[in-house]
Amino acid sequence: MARTTIRFGVIGCGLMGKEFASAAARWLHLADVNFEPKIVAACDANLDAAEWFRQRIPGVRVYADYRELLADAEIDAVYCAVPHHLHARIYADIVRAGKHLLGEKPFGIDGEANEQIAKALRERPDVLVRCSSEFPFFPGARQIVEWVNEGRFGTIIEVEAGFWHSSDLDPNKPINWKRRNATNGEYGCMGDLGMHVLHLPLRFGWKPRSVRALLGKIVRERPDGQGGTAPCETWDNAILACDVNAGAQRFPMVLSMKRIAPGHANTWFIRIQGTKLSAEFSTKNPKQVSWLPYEPGGSQAWHVMDAPHRSAYETITGGIFEFGFSDSILQMWAAFCDELTNRDSMRQPFRCATPEEAAGSHRVFTAALQSGLTGDTVRIDWGD
Ligand SMILES: NC(=O)c1ccc[n+]([C@@H]2O[C@H](COP(=O)([O-])OP(=O)(O)OC[C@H]3O[C@@H](n4cnc5c(N)ncnc54)[C@H](O)[C@@H]3O)[C@@H](O)[C@H]2O)c1
Repeated sequence: MARTTIRFGVIGCGLMGKEFASAAARWLHLADVNFEPKIVAACDANLDAAEWFRQRIPGVRVYADYRELLADAEIDAVYCAVPHHLHARIYADIVRAGKHLLGEKPFGIDGEANEQIAKALRERPDVLVRCSSEFPFFPGARQIVEWVNEGRFGTIIEVEAGFWHSSDLDPNKPINWKRRNATNGEYGCMGDLGMHVLHLPLRFGWKPRSVRALLGKIVRERPDGQGGTAPCETWDNAILACDVNAGAQRFPMVLSMKRIAPGHANTWFIRIQGTKLSAEFSTKNPKQVSWLPYEPGGSQAWHVMDAPHRSAYETITGGIFEFGFSDSILQMWAAFCDELTNRDSMRQPFRCATPEEAAGSHRVFTAALQSGLTGDTVRIDWGD
């Protein structure tokens, strides 16, 4: 099958920039797709980080200033994975340069920064822009998406979704940019983890109409890496009690984002309880999906199944093998490249998170921040 090559520039060659490089290098893993990414340029303010790309990707051009990368006419699209305070300026410049963009969450350090990105998007509607969010590509999560789309849950009783980490439990972990307001943003853990949690609820149209947030600061200072200590300014944990009003349905939704959830390393989960079906998936048990179908008067028994390796884009991996984080990244990248190549005729229907969904997450975080500070329940206006 003929393949369209999409020529990418990467801005931000840290943890996530490297994940994309790895996914692009593993494209042969995907069976039968008519698109492929080729990384032709990389940029990092720290040239040592970009050097990793130079050593591993033959012919890649390396820049220290992202504006030079944007002036590179050979580049069709950009992946941008930089600290949050840089999103507004760099994302807007990418869009105005006419490059398609997969940008990392949270799409701006705060609501105002998110609006600056939205303004650039309104000026260039020809540019495809999507926000990174890979967990819905796990087979178990896909199964739940299918059940929601099929209306299998009946009346929704309640929803719980979260993303939990635990490495910050260690008070000796040195501070980094994600623990500082100036670089991560005042949303704290919500800006860091929240888009992952809200992606599916917002895709399903489950917009919180109000939120009562409980925000926690647990470790208040950390080693600064230079022999001293530095204050940890950001919220470690957030629990958001939301009131969802979706069409005829009204139900509670509890969202949690935790940097300090003892024992949890990258646990993303969603649980939906309904009158006809309840189901849950967690990356804690990445193979398993659980569900409880119910008929009035019938028994209430959970079914637990090892979900087969059934991904959005077919791969060479046999159905008996396990799916993991880097597989979800590869699948997300396939969805972005598919949409760029095939637009409304994508090979499967699940698009990457949209800028509108990212903007929705900012509405929720902004209200949650206010709620956490005042102790009030805060209404969220969706303009609909
Ligand atoms: N999707 C996910 O699962 C996931 C996971 C972790 C982080 N993230 C997101 O990815 C983004 C980056 O996070 P990370 O963990 O890769 O951070 P990181 O610190 O590992 O990498 C960020 C890189 O950006 C570079 N940088 C800083 N200023 C720059 C500039 N002006 N121009 C070019 N490069 C610059 C830094 O030198 C660094 O190499 C953030 O938005 C974060 O929220 C997403």
